Amino acid sequence: MNSQSNRILFATGNAHKLEEVRKVLKHLPYEIISLKDLGIDYDIPETGDTLEENATIKSTYLAERYPDYHIISEDTGLEVHALNGAPGVITARYGGPEKDAQQNMKKVLFELQGKANRSAQFRAILSHIFKGEEKQYEGIVKGSIAMKQSGNDGFGYDPIFIPEGHDETFADLGDEIKIKMSHRAKAVEKFVKSLEE
Ligand code: IMP
Repeated sequence: MNSQSNRILFATGNAHKLEEVRKVLKHLPYEIISLKDLGIDYDIPETGDTLEENATIKSTYLAERYPDYHIISEDTGLEVHALNGAPGVITARYGGPEKDAQQNMKKVLFELQGKANRSAQFRAILSHIFKGEEKQYEGIVKGSIAMKQSGNDGFGYDPIFIPEGHDETFADLGDEIKIKMSHRAKAVEKFVKSLEE
C-alpha cells in the first residue's frame, strides 16, 4: 500500500465528525486527513437538493484537487416522521441561516409540540471517490425526539435524539456508545467493508 492509498482525505471541517470517524477506523491502517489539515478553513458549499447530492459535491471538490487519494465526505439529515421527513436536507440550517444547534433543536421541539408520534431517524450518506469512481454508503439510526434537551456529549441534535433501545439521548449516552450504533458509524463500517474486499 503506498502513501496515497493509505491516506483518506475527509471533506469535513466538523471536528466532532472527524473524531467519530477516526474512532470507527482506528483499528485500520488508514490515516484520516481533514480539511483543516489541508489548510482549507471554509465550508464546501452544500448546494444539492438531497443528502446524496451534497455528499457528492463535497467529495468531488476534494477529488478534483487530490485525484490520487481516497476521498470521503458525509452528509447527515435528521428525518422526523411527524414533520414529513423534515428537517432532512436542511438539517444544518433548520432553525435559521447560522447553523446554530440550539436554534435547530428549539425549532424541532416547537414543531413537535402536541404531536404524539415523535419517531425520527438520522440518515448519513458517505461518499467515497477513488480513481474517479464514486460509491455511496447509507447509515441509519432510528429513534425518537426527546421532550427536552438532555446531556452534554456529542454535537448538533444529540441532546434531543434518543436512539431506539435506549431511554437517554445520544448526548447523555456519550461518544463511546454513540459510535457503536450511530448513522455515521454504520455508513463508515459499510465503507470499510468495501475497502477490505
Ligand atoms: P452536515 O452533514 O454536516 O451537513 O450536518 C447536518 C446537520 O446535522 C448539522 O446541523 C449537524 O449538527 C447535524 N448532525 C450531523 N451529524 C449529527 C450527529 O451525529 N448527531 C447530531 N447532529 C448531527
